[in-house]
Amino acid sequence: MTKPPLLLTRTFPEAVEARAARDYDARLASGDTGWANDSAEIARRAAGAAGILCAAGDRMNAETIAALPEGVKIIATFSVGTDHIDLKAAADRSILIANTPDVLSVATAEIAMLLILMAARRAGESERVLRAGAWSGWTPTQFMGVTLEGKRLGILGMGRIGRALATMARGFGMEIHYRNRSQLPLEQEQGAHFHADDAPFLAACDILSMHIPGGAATRHWLNAERIALLPQGAIVVNTGRGTTVDDAALVAALSSGHIRAAGLDVYDGEPRIFPGYLGLENVALLPHLGSATIETRDAMGFRALDNLDAVLLRGEEPPHRVL
Ligand code: DGY
Repeated sequence: MTKPPLLLTRTFPEAVEARAARDYDARLASGDTGWANDSAEIARRAAGAAGILCAAGDRMNAETIAALPEGVKIIATFSVGTDHIDLKAAADRSILIANTPDVLSVATAEIAMLLILMAARRAGESERVLRAGAWSGWTPTQFMGVTLEGKRLGILGMGRIGRALATMARGFGMEIHYRNRSQLPLEQEQGAHFHADDAPFLAACDILSMHIPGGAATRHWLNAERIALLPQGAIVVNTGRGTTVDDAALVAALSSGHIRAAGLDVYDGEPRIFPGYLGLENVALLPHLGSATIETRDAMGFRALDNLDAVLLRGEEPPHRVL
């Protein structure tokens, strides 16, 4: 049987590429990935392909999708987020879109917890002092942060990642509040306080952790007005999508001290970082590490291949169809 042609837009983990090469006529990116932001180049490389394995950040907008050759049946993204894909343009072309939910929830929640700890305990700032050779020794007042035990953690978006974070935060003795489209069933809520409105939710956040998807509907959700509703000295952490934060407003609040500290893993227009963050000591910055564990990245790749296999090898629905 001839293997269906598959375009990979990136270098993926070895085990994922090996499985792709076993089952597909796979066009591997082989380290050459800059082109995945060029619509014409994606379309040129997709010539003859039946499927595309892409990643968050690849330019799968209306222009790219319109330019794809006829034979493309499915775009499987190596991500849970789909804001890099124009879903309507794909629907217009009857191209299936599938993603990789569930498998990255714990890894991403771990990075949220790490950023909460870094922001609360000033880990980045103090490490920079040490590395600069500027540490003059222990003092009773140096690098004092805040204790997590007894603090209120507000989780914006109580999906799988939010719930995994809640489980971890309970272990630190934190009180969990959440804002979600709907209230969770009791067995998932596990004592967390549901908020149906922004204002009481934000007022209850000693620490706000953001887990909402990107896209037009959530753009700049955390703006100056909502920041003002957070308690004085609150901490903000974002591991969802950078577009959900108004960077200028957050930088102003970090500079004034209304927000004590922030921890960010995602950025609007990444890999570009809003310049205002770079000069601030009270913000911990990570390079979109959410799902970056060996186990998780393999699992994401296999899930993406499961989606492709269903459509291209068996003519079935992809198990994780977005659209
Ligand atoms: C996702 O899956 O959407 C992540 O942002 C990539 O780690």
